[in-house]
Amino acid sequence: MVTLNSTLNTQQAAAAIGVSAITLKRWLLNGKVADVSRDRNGWRVFNNQDVERIRTYAEGDATPSARASKSNKKFTVASFFSGIGGFDLGFEEHGFQIHYQCEINKFCQHILKKHWKGITLDTNITEVTNDRIPNSDVWIGGFPCQDVSLASMGTRKGLKGARTGLFYEFTRLLGEARPGVIVLENVPGLLSSHQGKDFEIVIKTLAELGYSVGWRTLNSQYFGVPQSRQRVYIVGCYRDREGPARILFEPERSEGHIKKNGPNGEKPVSPLKRVLRNLGGESPVVQSIAYCLYACSARHTGTDWSRTYVSYPSKGAVRRLTAKECEGIMAFPKDWTVPTSNEFGADVESLRYHALGNAVTPPVAAWIGARVRAYLADKSARASVTSNTESLSLAAGG
Ligand SMILES: C[S@@+](CC[C@H](N)C(=O)[O-])C[C@H]1O[C@@H](n2cnc3c(N)ncnc32)[C@H](O)[C@@H]1O
Repeated sequence: MVTLNSTLNTQQAAAAIGVSAITLKRWLLNGKVADVSRDRNGWRVFNNQDVERIRTYAEGDATPSARASKSNKKFTVASFFSGIGGFDLGFEEHGFQIHYQCEINKFCQHILKKHWKGITLDTNITEVTNDRIPNSDVWIGGFPCQDVSLASMGTRKGLKGARTGLFYEFTRLLGEARPGVIVLENVPGLLSSHQGKDFEIVIKTLAELGYSVGWRTLNSQYFGVPQSRQRVYIVGCYRDREGPARILFEPERSEGHIKKNGPNGEKPVSPLKRVLRNLGGESPVVQSIAYCLYACSARHTGTDWSRTYVSYPSKGAVRRLTAKECEGIMAFPKDWTVPTSNEFGADVESLRYHALGNAVTPPVAAWIGARVRAYLADKSARASVTSNTESLSLAAGG
């Protein structure tokens, strides 16, 4: 399993631990668990060790959600349109086991095989049959967006397009398997294509298969990613009306506002500049947050306004981002997309840009993964309480 160097806020950490944010704050305030560090605005930040430490404490607690995390069950994931595994990586961060992937692009397959050895990797979803897919708790997939994306030139074909229409291949397989939770991702253009009719079809198709559906547009820049990247996340829970809202929305308010008159914190540095600085090299001039990276926008095609440039005013020079920097602005681990052989020759930079521009940012996937895990863990804890109660009443002759 690959560990991300991400930090979580209180709500995210609570979801990862499997308790409510209120419970987590109570433990911190009562000193039941040692407090964590704060960012320069005075907000709590939880790293991986904090989450593990508090999860261990939670395992000794008797609340239903803490019991759920005690079960330590590894939930399983089947991943479709896997790309370079942004979704998969985020879910894995929260203890999910990826045991099936499906991806048609050769370069992406190479990167998937590099990071997930020995699991089934199917190629063309149109040729997949259900016997190929192991039983899974969750199905994830960012189906192709080219036919609904506002970044593509010309008329949007929507779900009638050959690429975005692959959604129907996903639902063909889903209809037979019906896993408990599905999470889909696409560009916000999915909401408006054909005046919203396409999105209506997506929701109706899932509903007809028994899924209650919710959706939320999330921007990666609010998850520590130095890029404004809005995507629609659609969550479906099989025969559970409350599930999608429990996963996608937080009932608790956030921690309050920045403290006034506090000590001077670290000098603000643009998040994008921080990523570039961490990559080494000279100190260039960049904007604070990168524009959304599209599969084609890092090359010299597409729209100029939507491309992020790095400039060197003293030299009068400007350049586009390197593939390595694109990994940084997508919040993937360093060298994630470097192939293990030279079979891709001179095309490799362009293949890396393209795959990164299509990907899900792992921190957003991790946030959703943490919340799906809390949901599934709670559900299985409730199911085990019900079955224990039933066996007790049977033993008592009830
Ligand atoms: C929007 S991208 C998903 C990226 C992925 N979520 C990630 O984080 O990298 C859609 C992916 O679907 C793949 N794809 C397109 N047609 C496919 C097909 N017929 N079968 C399987 N995968 C396909 C594309 O190659 C692309 O990688």
